[in-house]
Amino acid sequence: MGLESMKGMLAKAGKEQYGVGAFNTVDYASTKAAVTAAEELAAPIIIQTSVKTVQLWGHATVVTWMKDIAANSPVPVALHLDHCKDPDFIRQCIDAGWTSVMIDASAKPFEENLAITRQVFEMADAAGVGLEAELGEIGGVEDDKSVADEDAYLADPDKAEMFCKDLPLAVFAPAIGTAHGVYKGEPKIAFDRLEEIAKRTGLPIALHGGTGLSDDVFKRCIALGCAKVNISTQLKYTFIDSFVNYHQDHQAYEPVKVLTAQMEAIRKTVVDYIRLFGSEGKGK
Ligand code: 13P
Repeated sequence: MGLESMKGMLAKAGKEQYGVGAFNTVDYASTKAAVTAAEELAAPIIIQTSVKTVQLWGHATVVTWMKDIAANSPVPVALHLDHCKDPDFIRQCIDAGWTSVMIDASAKPFEENLAITRQVFEMADAAGVGLEAELGEIGGVEDDKSVADEDAYLADPDKAEMFCKDLPLAVFAPAIGTAHGVYKGEPKIAFDRLEEIAKRTGLPIALHGGTGLSDDVFKRCIALGCAKVNISTQLKYTFIDSFVNYHQDHQAYEPVKVLTAQMEAIRKTVVDYIRLFGSEGKGK
């Protein structure tokens, strides 16, 4: 099918109230495993890369493996750049072939965040690339960004409406009480705020910090407008644990067998999330 923008995918998901899984992968194998899961369930999928992952491999290499995987896939696949503060880096990704990008200027004051987001929107839109932007500060650690609990703050519905007015983002990421990484206690999700922001902006919402949320929280957030559901930390654990466990259990120095076990573990994990998010059968 080839790579496509997440914009259409998420507009449909928002209308039909299911979540499209956005999975952070780090190499060809983890990406192939995640897309295989989507194919098995005929689900649309967003593959996200962190800035660090792009820096490790280089833009062209990531796009080469993504195009190879998506070209042979019957389901819609988007290649998305996760949290990026640098418009120049975003431009490089767009030029290289990313179909969706996120500008994260959420640490800046409101007006500055809005100005940067608008500028990146013009650039992305001209290339047919969907844009995600953040308001408020989502807590936790993601890539090289770390927001301490006391610095995280929720998005304000009035400001959210102002931010998104005449700005047709593919998806909007307001901070609603979730956090990246492993939750230390029970996360306090501001469901009312999520509902109000989704209604007042009219945009599909991105749920960040998916790892560790309960099935009920996922379902409630999706019902209230979260059309993009981000999973990173769980896949990092699956990636490392499956590798280490296979080697410990089999004491084998067989890279292909270890990689096969790792891909199988990632595939299973992604299958479970897709079922939970309700996107099975939505990628036909
Ligand atoms: P987790 O690492 O908590 O799954 O969050 C992922 C995310 O929101 C990526 O932007």
